[in-house]
Amino acid sequence: MTNERSNMKIVVIGGTGLIGSKVVNKLNAQGYKVVAASPDTGVNTVTGEGLSEALKSASVVVDVSDSPLWEDNAVMEFFTTSTRNLLTNEAAVAVGHHVALSVVGTDRLSESGYFRAKIAQEELIESSSIPYSIVHATQFFEFLKKFADISSAGDKVRVPPVFFQPMAAEDVASAVARIAVGPPVNGIVEIGGPEQFRLDELVRRRLATLNDPREVIGDAQALYGGAHVSLKTLVPYINAQLGETRFESWLTRAAA
Ligand SMILES: NC(=O)c1ccc[n+]([C@@H]2O[C@H](COP(=O)([O-])OP(=O)(O)OC[C@H]3O[C@@H](n4cnc5c(N)ncnc54)[C@H](OP(=O)(O)O)[C@@H]3O)[C@@H](O)[C@H]2O)c1
Repeated sequence: MTNERSNMKIVVIGGTGLIGSKVVNKLNAQGYKVVAASPDTGVNTVTGEGLSEALKSASVVVDVSDSPLWEDNAVMEFFTTSTRNLLTNEAAVAVGHHVALSVVGTDRLSESGYFRAKIAQEELIESSSIPYSIVHATQFFEFLKKFADISSAGDKVRVPPVFFQPMAAEDVASAVARIAVGPPVNGIVEIGGPEQFRLDELVRRRLATLNDPREVIGDAQALYGGAHVSLKTLVPYINAQLGETRFESWLTRAAA
């Protein structure tokens, strides 16, 4: 078994990022041969630099990269160019499983430039010849502060008071690592947190623990990443795989 694992090469694109670095650690600890690929390690999926070398004899590619810029055209350019380059290089070495991390509700958020780019990324994967698994995760607890920042005007943060079921980055990484070494589902797997909240309530709690004085206002007209959302847009369907970490215990750990 150990020998089998050490012969199975898994390339993690975005392997230096929040989720990617955790996926790399988990797969390494399980004995797989793991390569963390990102511009920092000399692999750029947009320019193609270092890509064919990194993918040599790879069995699985896990794409947990993100665009450095979230402006509409930049993010579309990033996910389409990067995904095309990846899939072409994977086909050349007969990669057996392409795993990509996307977001619960992506298909319901096409008013947003970021989510149009994630939809385009998913369509490229679905129409490629590589067996795949697309993991739809809910928002990470770690993302709440950045979300408050992009929803702020002065000292007010306006967010829609919709249902929200975020999860710890650690649990996202565990699920991605588990799915990466399983068989391709050739479809979408949904993952989420163990509890549901209202989005405004959670942003308020996160900012309070950071002693951030901004006022969080639940506003039904407020947009989420540029898109209108309804009560259940951001939560998974009932058969999602759930992470274990509760928000309060994550908050306590984050504060420590
Ligand atoms: N935020 C959320 O709540 C949420 C929820 C569900 C799903 N997601 C998805 O999760 C994924 C990962 O998010 P994250 O927060 O872990 O991202 P992150 O911490 O920002 O990391 C992004 C990674 O992408 C790499 N990267 C950037 N440009 C690259 C390029 N040209 N070629 C190769 N790698 C490149 C970065 O490498 P360098 O460090 O070298 O630049 C870094 O390793 C995203 O696709 C996102 O859509 C996010």
